Amino acid sequence: MTFDILVKGGTLPDGRIADVALADGKIAAVEAPIDAEAGEVVEAAGKLVSSPFVDPHFHMDATLSYGTPRVNASGTLLEGIALWGDLKALQTREDIVARALTYCRQGVTKGLLAIRSHVDVTDPNFKTVEALLEVREHVRGVLDLQLVAFPQDGWFRAEGGAAQVVRALDAGVDIVGGIPHFERTTADGAASVRAACELAAQRGVRVDLHCDECDDPLSRHVETLAAETVRCGLQGRVAGSHLTSMHSMDNSYVAKLLPLIAEAEVAAIPNPLVNITLQGRTDTYPKRRGLTRVQELRSAGVRVAFGQDCVRDPWYPLGTGDMLDVAHMGLHVALMTDLDGMRAAFDMVTSAGAEVMGLDFGLEPGRRGSLVVIDASDPIEAIRLRPTRLCVISDGRIVARSRPETCHLSAKF
Ligand code: FE2
Repeated sequence: MTFDILVKGGTLPDGRIADVALADGKIAAVEAPIDAEAGEVVEAAGKLVSSPFVDPHFHMDATLSYGTPRVNASGTLLEGIALWGDLKALQTREDIVARALTYCRQGVTKGLLAIRSHVDVTDPNFKTVEALLEVREHVRGVLDLQLVAFPQDGWFRAEGGAAQVVRALDAGVDIVGGIPHFERTTADGAASVRAACELAAQRGVRVDLHCDECDDPLSRHVETLAAETVRCGLQGRVAGSHLTSMHSMDNSYVAKLLPLIAEAEVAAIPNPLVNITLQGRTDTYPKRRGLTRVQELRSAGVRVAFGQDCVRDPWYPLGTGDMLDVAHMGLHVALMTDLDGMRAAFDMVTSAGAEVMGLDFGLEPGRRGSLVVIDASDPIEAIRLRPTRLCVISDGRIVARSRPETCHLSAKF
């Protein structure tokens, strides 16, 4: 038997040492060893071989725009939204496409092969949607780009917001979005959650809402999201992104809430790099961390995947598209520095994200032939060092290669 690619001797995230054979765009075998011919052999002895990095929450229409037309002086979510409003009026479709493609190239070199990007549909001339639909076609076959119809200025609060969501779905956007905590009233927020779930059920698509992204313990739209998910029969197809208000909620209310989220099979997508900087801005001291309750959600049986959210945009000045940065920050803020916690953080930027996005990634025969060879011995070392991605393979094709970093010390100790 001849395979297309044979990845030799790598260490899988679970510690097994195995060869991975790829044929016809799929994983054909994972065994130790595989004695067979291959069109290309990738030597991975002593290196970590993982399923690809996945980012289930990003804003590709805003990425790499930092400083245009000015920076976010307060560092808050609300100034970011206002600044994005100014940028929307200035940027062209070509600007958005060029920046997005630059970001996608950077991400692929880091082993990032799937991104769910929210796209602001409240731009009345629709250039954000048209630009990201174009980007989705450009990157097809290398990077899976899922698009969420996201009414940034509100489902009801923005004039025509709800209609623009429908228009985006009609144009080919994949998923229904929303931002209930930004609507004018709590009642409007709940109504927007209801409308989003009903629309998704009608269309047979998924839901991913920006939900409770604030420090207000009484922002409880995730409760409505769980209930509406069950009412509309959307179990397993809905995600609540951010969920930061849960950090500040009363513990007895959270004790009731977590089983409802688990029962509805609503996934949680915390975004640690960005929410550790956006939240707590109205606090003096102590300043709340503002990340949702990652460990408690996982313990309750909720699927949790970390997202990047922003890279150099109106909300966040830094970022690289490296999901290991996200895992690194996430395990710090969520106090997951025990061995299981650090391994879970790696899972939350790889396998869990793929599950949330409904992708058939994984190092098992029959799955998509996508993987990354990392210059680290195991997932914890990968998070610690955030080292070079030596080889990135997408659907059976090598799409990026890098040399290991070397440094020759001239000093003597
Ligand atoms: Fe977001």
